[in-house]
Amino acid sequence: MVKDPAVARTSCSERGSGAGSRLASATAPEFGIRMETREEEQQMSERTKVTVPQLWEMKKSGQKISMITAYDYPTGVWAERAAIDILLVGDSMAMTVLGHSTTLPATMEEMIAHSQAVMRGNDTSFVLGDMPYMSYQPSVELAVQNAGRFMSEGGCDGIKLEGGVPMADRVQAIVNAGIPVMGHLGLTPQSMSMLGGFKAQGKDAQMAKKIVDDAKVLEEAGAFSILLEAVPSKVSKLVTERAEIPIISIGAGPDCDGQVLIFHDMFGLYPAFTPKFAKQYADLGEVIVQGLKRYADEVRGGAFPEPKHCFTISDEQYEELMSILE
Ligand code: KIV
Repeated sequence: MVKDPAVARTSCSERGSGAGSRLASATAPEFGIRMETREEEQQMSERTKVTVPQLWEMKKSGQKISMITAYDYPTGVWAERAAIDILLVGDSMAMTVLGHSTTLPATMEEMIAHSQAVMRGNDTSFVLGDMPYMSYQPSVELAVQNAGRFMSEGGCDGIKLEGGVPMADRVQAIVNAGIPVMGHLGLTPQSMSMLGGFKAQGKDAQMAKKIVDDAKVLEEAGAFSILLEAVPSKVSKLVTERAEIPIISIGAGPDCDGQVLIFHDMFGLYPAFTPKFAKQYADLGEVIVQGLKRYADEVRGGAFPEPKHCFTISDEQYEELMSILE
């Protein structure tokens, strides 16, 4: 359990520490690689695992919660170094990583493989597996089984699922199985066809009331937190004020208890489009394109590789080789 939440969330980034103890211990000077040993990692990282009670405490004390999506090992490592509170292995992976035009094709197998990769790089963020389309909608039993797979196979700390009142029985059953559940209301991409596309929700009084009511029902069903996507700020503020659990915003304004952004939007890594609510912190896509162009030029012109990128054989061994070959 966390000793002091403030210390828990700052010590790791202050020290610039890397991933947790899952990193292999290895020194391979020949390859120019120096990975931290397990002991070094443990000494560097005083950050302890973020927990549900800690997240509730953050809501109570008004400390904002940081959350991003993560789909792979390096992002797990970077998020740990930045002391991000919650990671979501989002089904947005189907779009941002696999290039589909919606989240619907994401499968349980893919989501579990990506969860495992994130977990290999991160020991301390609270990691949620995102239940993919049709992994929980058909029945309560299927929902509990698949939520359990995220825990036992994916190594996650909880799950997220989309939907309000119709999903309350799934939420309750999963929570009864001891699995923390984050709800997801507003723009729910798995229902995009019903919603008429990627657009803001709750912009009229009736639809806004439905979001407020759905949030109450999810909280009563045992959700530990709720994500609001693309909802007017005033509506989100109401939901946040009425809830005892943390309300996380993606495009739902500044008054929620925390914010989440999609990693690929934050760093210019999703070429198809950037949602209005995303803030770009760096254009790594452009950095990569420039790097690739330089690389291609250097390969074509012979500037790469240089001697420092090559391995040597002693003159003696080379002569012996030649004699064997002759
Ligand atoms: O899958 C996802 O990335 C999401 C975002 C809205 C956070 O659910």
